Amino acid sequence: MSRDERYQELHKRLGALLDGEEDWVSAMATVACELHHAFERFHWTGFYRVTEPGVLRVGPYQGGHGCLEIPFERGVCGAAAREARVIRLDDVEQFQDHIACSSTTRSEIVVPILDTHGRVFAVLDVDSDHPAAFDEVDERELSSLAEHLGARYGSRAS
Ligand code: SME
Repeated sequence: MSRDERYQELHKRLGALLDGEEDWVSAMATVACELHHAFERFHWTGFYRVTEPGVLRVGPYQGGHGCLEIPFERGVCGAAAREARVIRLDDVEQFQDHIACSSTTRSEIVVPILDTHGRVFAVLDVDSDHPAAFDEVDERELSSLAEHLGARYGSRAS
């Protein structure tokens, strides 16, 4: 199955699983689980939430333990949240301020999740132990997922 096809299946499954689900934490937990198990190359898959201005705290995730708190000034997640843009790294060592929660991480993608006012309230972070694990299909599909989550849960997040 191609990456594209796998994402189409995933979107369908998530649509069914989250149908009628109002709770943001339950939604994040379900997305982290489904995404993590859909792709063998995803080794850490989860969310960081903006819990106060300029601060990200870890949310539901799958994989090894993640850093609990990341200020907006630090790391790939902080930069993606601060600049409200997707950051995709083929090689995490090329990003000077990368925070190595796991020494085996080689590549990473972080996608901001915006509420209906255009404010970042969370980021979706996926790390891989393989170099250049994420391509433009991942970027497009994870961005579309983030957009959907933002529109649906942006006013419920805390
Ligand atoms: N690598 C991230 C930190 C989060 S974890 O790896 C789970 C960063 O630099 O923001």
